[in-house]
Amino acid sequence: MKPKLTTLLAIAVLMACSDSTNVSSSKSNYEMKKSLYANDTHSFSEPNSVAMSHLSLNISIDFVTRIISGAAAYTLERNDNSDFILDVDGLEITAVRDIETDKPLNFLIEEGDKYGDKLIIDLDSNTSQVGLDYSTSPNASALLWMEPSQTNDGTAPFLFTQGQAILTRSWVPIQDSPAIRITYDAMVKVPPGMMALMSAENPRDSNINGQYTFIMNQPIPPYLMALAVGDLAFQSLGDHTGVYAEPGMLEVSAYEFADMEKMLLAAEELYGPYSWGRYDVLVLPPGFPFGGMENPKLTFATPTIIAGDRSLTSLIAHELAHSWSGNLVTNATWDDFWLNEGFTVYFEKRIMEALYGHSYAEMLNELGYQDLKQTIRQLGERSPDTHLKLDLNNRNPDDGMTDVAYEKGYLFLRWLESIAGREKFDEFLKNYFKVNAFKTMTTESFIEYLEENLLANIDEDIDLDQWIYAPGLPADHPIPKSLRFQSVDSIRSAWLQEKVQVSEIQTEDWTTHEWLCFLRGIPENIDKEKLAILDEQFGLTQSRNSEIAAIWFERAITSDYKAAFPQLEAFLLKVGRRKFLVPLYSQLSKSEANKEWALNVYSRARANYHAVSINTIDELLDWNAS
Ligand code: BES
Ligand code: ZN
Repeated sequence: MKPKLTTLLAIAVLMACSDSTNVSSSKSNYEMKKSLYANDTHSFSEPNSVAMSHLSLNISIDFVTRIISGAAAYTLERNDNSDFILDVDGLEITAVRDIETDKPLNFLIEEGDKYGDKLIIDLDSNTSQVGLDYSTSPNASALLWMEPSQTNDGTAPFLFTQGQAILTRSWVPIQDSPAIRITYDAMVKVPPGMMALMSAENPRDSNINGQYTFIMNQPIPPYLMALAVGDLAFQSLGDHTGVYAEPGMLEVSAYEFADMEKMLLAAEELYGPYSWGRYDVLVLPPGFPFGGMENPKLTFATPTIIAGDRSLTSLIAHELAHSWSGNLVTNATWDDFWLNEGFTVYFEKRIMEALYGHSYAEMLNELGYQDLKQTIRQLGERSPDTHLKLDLNNRNPDDGMTDVAYEKGYLFLRWLESIAGREKFDEFLKNYFKVNAFKTMTTESFIEYLEENLLANIDEDIDLDQWIYAPGLPADHPIPKSLRFQSVDSIRSAWLQEKVQVSEIQTEDWTTHEWLCFLRGIPENIDKEKLAILDEQFGLTQSRNSEIAAIWFERAITSDYKAAFPQLEAFLLKVGRRKFLVPLYSQLSKSEANKEWALNVYSRARANYHAVSINTIDELLDWNAS
């Protein structure tokens, strides 16, 4: 193969500088390195020149000023004599130094784009470790600072970070690309008595002086750096698993997640050993903007999955699965997001199937398929955002994070499974995680890997492009079909056609998923009297299952069933999970009167939401304009 001009140039520069720098890697080593970092349009860093390999944090958390401040130290891998470039967003940098010589280093923050700025540090020729002092802004986009009243127990304030996709740069100066990996350690000072947890080895108990140390010895991408601080307690669930929550939530959380250790064992059985030591889950206050976030060793989870009947725990299987797909083999750029999420949904469903059987898993699959079809309809059948491989250049990566990556990605893998046969496909996946562990993957390198390791021996005409680079769904895509849903569909139809009464609908053995299927199939403009009768029979407005409540509220809005509105208001004030907020606020904004009501609720709810949700809902409700 012909070496690229840029590679040759870089080698020339490297050789020219080799006596003035401490570059130690050999040429071939360097060439190898060079191919490691994909071009990421969402980071200003230039890791092919200078990359961080370890980060050491020493920070304190001030709930009064809502500022994190302290020191960060970076160990560098230098491949040429360029500056060290980091991503920052709203950070104040007060001093930068060479750690070995203690000499100050020149630095400058250059204005970037709406997602962040560029911190440029002028390195000395021998600098291999850089230290800096910094502080965050009180409205850092990764952080949600909560008053005690916004937590479950109301005993202490709470703080958590959300790094994915490009928010870590708002709480740590960092080379914020998923293609880069670092190990880290941290000293974190919090108010006395509070507990701090990170995506690292964690304490079991809080300590009175509020001083915690953390170590993450496995290299992770920056979006997986995470911190939470609050009044927290721990309960073990098994030899390798446990749950952290506010004390008042601990028992219900432990009950809900009782099968976690089994999930972990099932996952290992499927796709090889778990690489991260312990697997714990942290249950956050309801302002958490996602269902779950796969922070290594410590998944962050919304309390809205605690339904009391363990019916929403596929989310835990999902976040656990990311310990392989995402955290071990990581999408190189956000354009390759489907490699994280599509694989994870496939893996999640296989865990659920292993634990609860095929008919249970197929209900989840059909719900996912319904979501996907709706998303494709909304985006447009021809929209490039329905490709698996995305083009998010100059856009917020958040824009590409739709059901397409998750559910079309899932269907693609299920399709591959059907072609190769389950046994062969499982073998392939197991190896994929093993061979590519702690590496990053672009869509193109995955295709190459797939062709060499699975498709080479398969004698069939296989059109990958149709799946990966084309819109919508290929004609021969698998269609998940749940038999249990078929009977739900027929009873719903009979009821809608007034062939049966509400009191004749047998729901005793329905799971949450059958309820979701039933409710999703109710037409938008159904007569509100009909909803009232359903409500009277099944107490849907009062449902403590967030998934059921959310779809029920949607129907209440579209049918103007006002009896549900006080509960809807309470839900919107409390829950910050974007997946629920988006459909509710968008249904509300479809009528003049409801929109006014929604804006009123939002004005009181907004402070309870994380920036991730605020950004979306502000836009949805034209908040600034109002
Ligand atoms: N990694 C995602 C959450 C995420 C995606 C955060 C994109 C920021 C940007 C997480 O694993 C996830 O997919 N969560 C889902 C739940 C899952 C069961 C589909 C969620 O939060 O709804
Ligand atoms: Zn996920």
